[in-house]
Amino acid sequence: MQADFFRHNRERFMQQLAGGVAVVVAYTQMQRKNDAAFKFEQEANFWWLTGIETADWWVIIDAKRGRSWLVAPTISHSHQVFDGSLSPATAALRSGIEHVIDQNEAEKLLRQLAKTHSVVYALGDMPHAEYFDFIQNPTSKKLYDSLGRIFNTVDDCRKTLAQLRALKQPEEIAAMKRAISLTIGGFNDVKSKLANYMHEYQVEADFSHYFRSRGAVGHAYDPIVAAGKNACTLHYIENNTKLAKNELLLLDIGAQVDGYAADITRTYALGRPTKRQAEVHGAVQAVQRQVIQLLSPGVAVREYYEKGEKIMKIALLQLGLMANKNDDKHFHTYFPHAMSHGLGVDVHDSLGAPAVFAPGMVLTVEPGIYIPEEGIGVRIEDDILITTTGHTNLSAKLSTDL
Ligand code: GLY
Ligand code: MN
Ligand code: MN
Repeated sequence: MQADFFRHNRERFMQQLAGGVAVVVAYTQMQRKNDAAFKFEQEANFWWLTGIETADWWVIIDAKRGRSWLVAPTISHSHQVFDGSLSPATAALRSGIEHVIDQNEAEKLLRQLAKTHSVVYALGDMPHAEYFDFIQNPTSKKLYDSLGRIFNTVDDCRKTLAQLRALKQPEEIAAMKRAISLTIGGFNDVKSKLANYMHEYQVEADFSHYFRSRGAVGHAYDPIVAAGKNACTLHYIENNTKLAKNELLLLDIGAQVDGYAADITRTYALGRPTKRQAEVHGAVQAVQRQVIQLLSPGVAVREYYEKGEKIMKIALLQLGLMANKNDDKHFHTYFPHAMSHGLGVDVHDSLGAPAVFAPGMVLTVEPGIYIPEEGIGVRIEDDILITTTGHTNLSAKLSTDL
């Protein structure tokens, strides 16, 4: 992505800020073990506004003056020697922001802006954070609190940014198509060699090799290579089990290319499928086909989910997995996750809680049926772009067959 892309994104954000001021912060590095950090990954909103892929930077955006400032972190000499640093000149070139200042200058600038703006916008709490079973990157909360000591009011701009990011622009769709195309290549490569694999990790290794050897950053999320009942653990990422010929193999994989994620799932038979395996797979395939057909601009999001659930209920009833159409307990046991989520810079990219679908949105359609007592887990997932007239299945080229 070029500086013009990020400049245009800031302009779109400024229009929404209606003369206001916003400060958006990068993630900081997080501990991996002892004195080593995890490989750094950037906060999606900050990246979308600046293109900067380094930790601890800020961007200050003043919509009244139509001006932005990048704030560089203070880097110690030893940190610089070990990890390098991003020079102000490179940061300016990458982002298209000519003003790069240090943290002391930023503090002065914010105090000055607070004289004419009582409100400042920043990223507020993540929705559903109470369900996370991990510690959040602390930078947004820290910034939010410190801005509260300078401005009268700090308001959350997370939803505004989500709504802007949800409507993908042509260059974003092109990047997503590249990520999807690379992922499809990886699936076809693995499918052609399926009989040769002895362990789940060999399949994972081939995907990783396929992506990295073609220059992609790698996986957009931890790859799921789940044989038999392992597929019933939705985010199974150990990928260490020996494969057996009588099992199905669920592959949920997505490459990351030019900042954008693919997210595709297929379920294959490792040998000759049993009647039941084929029946469950066929049911998921039929549900997925029908649910994709529901997607069009103007369709109410709530109605889409309700119709999708009805379609899934019919499939579960036919498979004998629900006692009747009101058997919600078994419905949620055998289909325990959402039908769709937005896709973009983040693999779970917020659509900004829209009432209706709009052209430019990209979301997954990923029905799944998981029957641990039968050792069967099937999910099929495609990436769908809402167009002005309906939708395009961006991953349609990859067969969903068993
Ligand atoms: N790959 C995670 C998901 O499908 O949501
Ligand atoms: Mn998904
Ligand atoms: Mn997935």
